[in-house]
Amino acid sequence: MNTGNRKKILFVCLGNICRSPMAEEILRVKAREQGKDVEVDSAGLIDFHEGELPDSRMRRHAQMHGYRLTHHSRPIDIADFSYFDVVIGMDRNNISRLLRLAPDAESRSKIVLATQYLRHHEAETVPDPYYGGESDFELVITLLEDVAEGILEDI
Ligand code: 4NP
Repeated sequence: MNTGNRKKILFVCLGNICRSPMAEEILRVKAREQGKDVEVDSAGLIDFHEGELPDSRMRRHAQMHGYRLTHHSRPIDIADFSYFDVVIGMDRNNISRLLRLAPDAESRSKIVLATQYLRHHEAETVPDPYYGGESDFELVITLLEDVAEGILEDI
């Protein structure tokens, strides 16, 4: 593996306890399966859940699909915009908040909406499941598996 080419990808959502830690683990697993060298992390736009494991509902649905979530929530840091190559938000609100936080034009150019990587599903955003039900957590996994495959096709 040529670690010099290793892509560094950061997933971002609001709380960093549902969508972005799920995205992080799906991409890590699929990259490993394909022998692709990526560094993946996730962060939140609020620090309300800092230090917490992902939401128990997200962990349960992850487990049903063979994923194990061990990330601990952390808020995004300004340094993330220089360290990571791509910063992927889950919905329009995430993107506008990221664009406001990004310190310069180069940082802003790294910000992408997750659904732009979809190949097999059509969705405007990866909807926030926090106040939703079982099917909302399942939809997160369905969309993020497609997103991860799209990202891996690109790199
Ligand atoms: P996430 O979901 O952004 O996918 O992690 C949420 C988690 C927590 C809250 C909102 C969304 N919250 O308001 O605490």
